Amino acid sequence: MATGLLVVLVLALLGSESGSGAENKILTTITDDGSKTLLTCTLNDSSAEILGHHWKKGDRVLHEDSLTDSTMKYTIDTDERMGRYFCIFLSDTELRASVDVKGSPKIKAVKKSEHATEGESVVLACKSESFPPVTDWVWYKMSDGGDQVLTNNSQNKFVLSSETKTELHIQNLDLEADPGKYACNGTNAEGTDQAVITLRVRNRLAALWPFLGIVAEVLVLVTIIFIYEKRRKPDEVLDDEDTGSAPLKSSGHHVNNKGENVRQRNAN
Ligand SMILES: *[C@@H]1O[C@H](CO)[C@@H](O)[C@H](O)[C@H]1NC(C)=O
Ligand SMILES: *[C@@H]1O[C@H](CO)[C@@H](O)[C@H](O)[C@H]1NC(C)=O
Ligand SMILES: *[C@@H]1O[C@H](CO)[C@@H](O)[C@H](O)[C@H]1NC(C)=O
Repeated sequence: MATGLLVVLVLALLGSESGSGAENKILTTITDDGSKTLLTCTLNDSSAEILGHHWKKGDRVLHEDSLTDSTMKYTIDTDERMGRYFCIFLSDTELRASVDVKGSPKIKAVKKSEHATEGESVVLACKSESFPPVTDWVWYKMSDGGDQVLTNNSQNKFVLSSETKTELHIQNLDLEADPGKYACNGTNAEGTDQAVITLRVRNRLAALWPFLGIVAEVLVLVTIIFIYEKRRKPDEVLDDEDTGSAPLKSSGHHVNNKGENVRQRNAN
């Protein structure tokens, strides 16, 4: 298979980055072979003495060296490749060019499923690390009868979005209408991507179950103790009756004797 499925040749003619005209002397290319993307910058200026190179993404330095080649290369994983990169030739002054690695958006759910209680609020969120940035976000509820787009005009809902994130706020959750699958679509100039979030709404009473469980346990325990105590008294009488064929009066005696014993023990 050919190494370069796609070779984009970008003559950096957009001088808007710096007025020095350095961009005009740097030839940039992006080569994509599916799993890796190779960025190349070549300086076409024999008068400049090269002292080293820097690769940057935003303010983050990805690579630096002190080689003197007029060509510099950097390899990125295709998964995390999108963004604006800078190749910088260190010379008397910095000669730099930007390399824009563009792609269709990559949208992810911040949490793939959410649980909330009826009557409360919940926030479903999606994020994007796309370049160019997402310009349009669309939220909708997925259902067999067709997807229903959600906006600020939708009952109990509103949407907050930025270039990198979107949030669907649902207030006063309804047990019947609100549970289900929600999708967020993010679109930029290169395409559209989607993430899906599952929302579960539990009954207001369900939140009470743990508490009710404890109450029920206590009630059962109290009942058992109560029944046990109630049963023990007749049992004792039965025991007493079993021990001897003595008349009822002697049983009274027995109790009296017991009482006397206690009194004697207390006296000691
Ligand atoms: C390099 O610069 C020279 C002089 O400015 C120009 O004639 C030549 O076409 C350039 N080469 C490339 C590959 O751009
Ligand atoms: C939707 O409502 C939120 C909060 O009230 C607001 O910040 C946002 O700008 C609104 N969005 C639109 C598209 O009107
Ligand atoms: C959302 O994106 C998916 C593909 O990612 C597409 O099939 C669907 O039509 C889009 N829906 C909306 C409302 O943009």
